[in-house]
Amino acid sequence: MLKDLVRNWRERKKGQLSEEDLLARLDRQRLPRHVAIIMDGNGRWARRRGMPRTFGHRAGMESIRDIVRLSTQLGIGYLTLYAFSTENWKRPTDEVNFLMNLLVEYLHKEIDELCQNNIRIHPIGLLDELPAKAGEALQVAVARSRHNSGLTLNLALNYGGRTELVEAVRAIAREVASGRLFPESIDEPVIAGYLYTAGQPDPDLLIRPAGDYRVSNFLLWQLAYTEFWMTPVMWPDFRKVHLLQALVDYQRRERRFGGLIKSQAGEN
Ligand code: FPP
Repeated sequence: MLKDLVRNWRERKKGQLSEEDLLARLDRQRLPRHVAIIMDGNGRWARRRGMPRTFGHRAGMESIRDIVRLSTQLGIGYLTLYAFSTENWKRPTDEVNFLMNLLVEYLHKEIDELCQNNIRIHPIGLLDELPAKAGEALQVAVARSRHNSGLTLNLALNYGGRTELVEAVRAIAREVASGRLFPESIDEPVIAGYLYTAGQPDPDLLIRPAGDYRVSNFLLWQLAYTEFWMTPVMWPDFRKVHLLQALVDYQRRERRFGGLIKSQAGEN
């Protein structure tokens, strides 16, 4: 017993638990309903290999496949991937074009498997501003997967958290101006209902690879009580084992949502 405890402690300290060990530790009843990921580090990963940044983006697509498969296998309800931000247009045109083409390629190649696995594609962001080809590929993927009831895969594309809030405020203002909504009726659920993620639970867990500790204009409203998990691992190296590490770590946390845990409740 003590030996086991020491072994587990050592393994955890080294971060070396295998996929199987992590799976065995995972409590399937307490999985996050919604996981959000800022897929970062593609460029650095490629540069370290003497390759162009786009090489990292292509490799990052493999990580998406792995993580989507595991999320489905575990029965996670919602997975939100930050694929392209409203700020990413500032990148060189070649890189932007590459990313848009990669999105089209991903949707074309994966849609059959996504549908077989009962996954619903739900793009979020200013989609009208995407290149026509990307918009069309998304429309097809959304239409083909709209009746699926398993994992909802939110693809954040031309997404910005502040823009999302601006859009929501405008829509609410229009409702108020037309007399369909009273200002006094505006509360948190009403605002949440005007966001791209309307009807979905807020993320329980946010994962950010590549070592930075920033939110980067991602899901600003929805992350209010989300647990964060950061890792130095670059996104193209991110595999099932890393998602499992994040999930096991998440399950060790005590979520208080601003309140107290049971054992503290009687203290003053
Ligand atoms: C951030 O890394 C990553 C992106 C801006 C793009 C993410 C896209 C993919 C993983 C693949 C394409 C997406 C789909 C949905 C098929 P970075 O380039 O900022 O890396 P760096 O911080 O090391 O420069």
